[in-house]
Amino acid sequence: MSTSTLTSELWAPQTRNNPLPFYARIRQEAPVVRMMDPYFQTPVWIVTRYKEAVELLRDNRFTKDQDKLPENSPARMKRIDSLEAINQHMLSADPPDHTRLRTIVSKAFTPRRVEELRPRVTAIAQRLLDDAQPKGSMDLLDAFAFPLPVTVIAEMLGVPTQDQDQFREWTNVIINPPVNGDMGPLQKAGMEFLHYFQQLMARRRAEPRDDLLTALMMAEEQGDRLSPVELVSMLFLLLVAGHETTVNLMGNGVWALLKHPEQLERLRANPALIDSAVEEMLRYRGPVETTTYRWALQDTELHGQVIPAGEGVLASLMAADHDPAQFPEPERFDITREPNRHIAFGFGIHFCLGAPLARLEATVALNLLLERMPRLRLAVDERELRWREGILVHGLQRLPVAF
Ligand code: HEM
Repeated sequence: MSTSTLTSELWAPQTRNNPLPFYARIRQEAPVVRMMDPYFQTPVWIVTRYKEAVELLRDNRFTKDQDKLPENSPARMKRIDSLEAINQHMLSADPPDHTRLRTIVSKAFTPRRVEELRPRVTAIAQRLLDDAQPKGSMDLLDAFAFPLPVTVIAEMLGVPTQDQDQFREWTNVIINPPVNGDMGPLQKAGMEFLHYFQQLMARRRAEPRDDLLTALMMAEEQGDRLSPVELVSMLFLLLVAGHETTVNLMGNGVWALLKHPEQLERLRANPALIDSAVEEMLRYRGPVETTTYRWALQDTELHGQVIPAGEGVLASLMAADHDPAQFPEPERFDITREPNRHIAFGFGIHFCLGAPLARLEATVALNLLLERMPRLRLAVDERELRWREGILVHGLQRLPVAF
């Protein structure tokens, strides 16, 4: 199939609403296929098989650091100035920078440290459900799945929770830029983000607190551990990751449960199944459809294709997690699936730093939701549900439920 046919199919609204049939087809045809990124108008290669996706994510012939690419490579030509100031984070770095940046914050995200947040996560979830309960219906995303992780990450970082609508707008533009190629909104959102953080840091410098922002600013002041650009970029990455992912784990997870009433009943009957249910939600409709780019450092052979120097490759995590070679009956949603070695959190050195936090939030919140709303159900016809446009984040636009 031609590059342009594949491209328009991958981004077509009907594929966005269910990408799996498309991925099943291209996974069968070839291990890596070439498309065009409609936002940047640059070539993008996509890997869809599980084994090949895992291999790609540990293949050091590819880089995450655009500065290492030839000057005239497409990725460098399409850079957006204002985003450069917030893009110098661990997900755009190779070792040793990657190791240095990740080490600075990794302590805050270990399973042990994250476990200490359980009472706070529970309290926030209870409060949101208290607010929703008398109403009888809600958009699950707006009223529950979004405010919970956003409040948690904002509190950890020390960012005022009342600014969350503003962040939602900025992150949305940055993650889903307009397909018409107009980079103005992206440029503007990047700039506003930067200014916001600069002001916040000035306030925190005058008045330090016990939060990640203060800790990161101290790391910066200690000299060569963190540059000013890296500091702002780190805040940006954590905030975006905290805004765009767990919300969709909960949204996609509740959607999957409501579509499979027998699985929902099993979970209600035995809430201890929540851990394995959340793993299956991650595999079945994970919130991150494709990884970020890995760029070829030089002309690189990948499964019989030559990826020209400077061109980018993505792994489709969703396709890999539905590869029948790895998961028997991949379309079956089974909350006790075992083994379930999904790669919804990525793989290798960039494996999601926030995985323990996301797992804690989802298990706590979903069990409380089911416990307090025994009659939870979709409030619209399933066919009215719409999924979001981009290929990075896989999530519903709205999820109206009644209870
Ligand atoms: C990286 C998924 C929640 C922080 C990643 C990657 C994936 C991912 C797939 C790797 C991307 C790549 O290799 O291109 C998810 C999912 C989440 C989630 C499915 C929720 C269900 C979070 C949360 C945080 C977070 C809550 C923190 C607040 C990060 C960071 C990285 C990352 C910092 C970069 C790690 C590195 O480069 O070493 N995540 N994420 N994530 N995630 Fe998450």
